[in-house]
Amino acid sequence: MDGRVSPVRIHRAVDPAALAEAAADFVADALRTAIESRGLARFALSGGSTPRATYEQLADAASSRGVDWSRVDAFFGDERAVPPDDAASNYRMAKESLLERVPIPPSRVHRIHGELPPADAAHRYAAVLGTDPLDVALLGMGEDGHVASLFPGTAALDSPATVLPTVAPFAPHPRITVGLSVLNASRLVVLLVAGAAKASRVEQVLQERRAGRPVLPAARVSPETGELYLFLDEAAAGLLAPRPDE
Ligand code: 6PG
Repeated sequence: MDGRVSPVRIHRAVDPAALAEAAADFVADALRTAIESRGLARFALSGGSTPRATYEQLADAASSRGVDWSRVDAFFGDERAVPPDDAASNYRMAKESLLERVPIPPSRVHRIHGELPPADAAHRYAAVLGTDPLDVALLGMGEDGHVASLFPGTAALDSPATVLPTVAPFAPHPRITVGLSVLNASRLVVLLVAGAAKASRVEQVLQERRAGRPVLPAARVSPETGELYLFLDEAAAGLLAPRPDE
């Protein structure tokens, strides 16, 4: 296991709404900067309720901060093995909360085909994603410390594959996810966590990182040359020291 741990910068917001707003502003700035530097922004979206609130803010934040959506490639960090119109589809969630609200060309929206057998969808998505680093990878974290669809204690965490099929310990079980290698090659990873139910896991993630023994998936997100930001609301940060120095 790779025990390397990158620095993490923590941003605290008073509540979930402020968290979504701050994260949306931050991501919008990162997308604009990537476009200014390289002419396009490779942006990976996550599923989950915390990212959804951020997507809803991002449409506005991106327009006020001058993000040129015609130069954004939207990818997905993970997908559930369901059709794109299913209520559990990460693509559907991102489409409704963000992608259909901004002028992104459909050809730049690269969804994972959850309706295919997961191994086929993963194989196909690896080709779509390619090997260039992501400029921004947005992640949520589950109560068990999973990120994307990389679950604690699973072999997927040590897979060198860029995209792979996985199985969640809860429904919907079959998933397709990018590997840790993709997250750790990203220029910027933004991990969003809200709610008291995740406070002890946040504390554990930071403790494992401090100790240099990252085990939980969220603790193993360590961009090699990029940056890692953890956006927390006060409830998720509830067990941390008032000013954590990570
Ligand atoms: C998914 C995800 C997953 C999610 C976290 C956090 O498809 O389920 O991409 O990694 O981001 O479980 O989700 P919540 O914010 O809903 O807790």
